[in-house]
Amino acid sequence: MSSDVMTGEEFRGLRENRGFNQQELAEFLNEKLGRRYDRNRISRWENGAERIPQLVVTALRPTAAPSSVGIPAVHVGPAMTLVVSNQKGGVGKTVSVANIGFLLAKAGRRVLIVDADPQASISIHLGVDPHECELAGTSLSQVLFNDRPTREAIVGVCDGQLDLLPCSIDLADADTNLAREPNGTLVLREKLDEVRDEYDFILVDCPPNLGVLTVSALNAADQLLIPSQTEMLSLMGIPKLLENVVKVRRRVNPRIGLLGILPTLFKARRVQDQAMVEELRKLAAANKTRLFTPVKDVADIAKGVTAGRPALELNPNIVGAEAYEEVAQALLELLCARKETLRGAA
Ligand SMILES: Nc1ncnc2c1ncn2[C@@H]1O[C@H](COP(=O)(O)OP(=O)(O)OP(=O)(O)O)[C@@H](O)[C@H]1O
Ligand SMILES: [Mg+2]
Repeated sequence: MSSDVMTGEEFRGLRENRGFNQQELAEFLNEKLGRRYDRNRISRWENGAERIPQLVVTALRPTAAPSSVGIPAVHVGPAMTLVVSNQKGGVGKTVSVANIGFLLAKAGRRVLIVDADPQASISIHLGVDPHECELAGTSLSQVLFNDRPTREAIVGVCDGQLDLLPCSIDLADADTNLAREPNGTLVLREKLDEVRDEYDFILVDCPPNLGVLTVSALNAADQLLIPSQTEMLSLMGIPKLLENVVKVRRRVNPRIGLLGILPTLFKARRVQDQAMVEELRKLAAANKTRLFTPVKDVADIAKGVTAGRPALELNPNIVGAEAYEEVAQALLELLCARKETLRGAA
């Protein structure tokens, strides 16, 4: 399909498929291409009054899925563990884990998602009933508190594309139960090590606090991703989280790296959201880490939660896909680099 043959109707279909109204599409194109289109121009393209530039057609086409090019198809373990954390609630941690996990699986990688939040949000998001897991004894708390083999608690989700280590509200006893264990915040790492060779990636969804579960996750992490809503309160907790990362690196886990900060729930038209992205950019630069493309605030992303599936599985072309694809690609590249190092050392 080239611009020569693309009709206005086809163009409108592409726009609607990506969840943009005409104004949003103009803003998307201006941001991406450095142009000054407005909704009238989009309207003229759609009603055939004006030719659609090839550049615009290309920009609107679905982006390529993250590529596994250069990464061995066969598994050469151990898994890279990504922890997704921010002590502020409701900033898109869970939704990010679901969608990044899905993209990594789609790129052919074996992915385990670990629900380390007693709210059990990612378990519910991926269609698993936390109460049933609790009754069946197949939740993360059984693994952590009763030394149940990790493998026995893992379930397949998304038609087997992803594996999940679910949890239920009984994980809320982690503070007391893990405090009784010698080096209790290392139990999660030990239990994940049981299955690390079976996956390419382990993604851990954290609760909105810096308690024992988050510290346990950081102790097990290779990489940390910090989603942050583009509003003030969400930003304010990041320095404290980063302080903890420095301590974890010094005391327990020297391998932990900062993958980056992911702005979420971004409303491009709100001046304060734009200002907050700038603040996040400065914070990322000061901590020598990457600021990913912001994930826009779009209903389609929230719809995935209701549907019990990652939003990008329901519709790979929704607004926000680019941001998650960027994160997935960064992880695939890191995995590739690490596997090269492992091979060199072998
Ligand atoms: N990009 C987005 N656009 C629209 N809604 C979103 C987006 N990302 C997340 N949401 C919605 O925002 C809410 C919070 O998202 P999510 O549960 O992922 O945050 P969280 O940081 O994991 O929350 P908690 O701290 O409670 O674990 C959910 O209702 C989710 O559907
Ligand atoms: Mg959550």
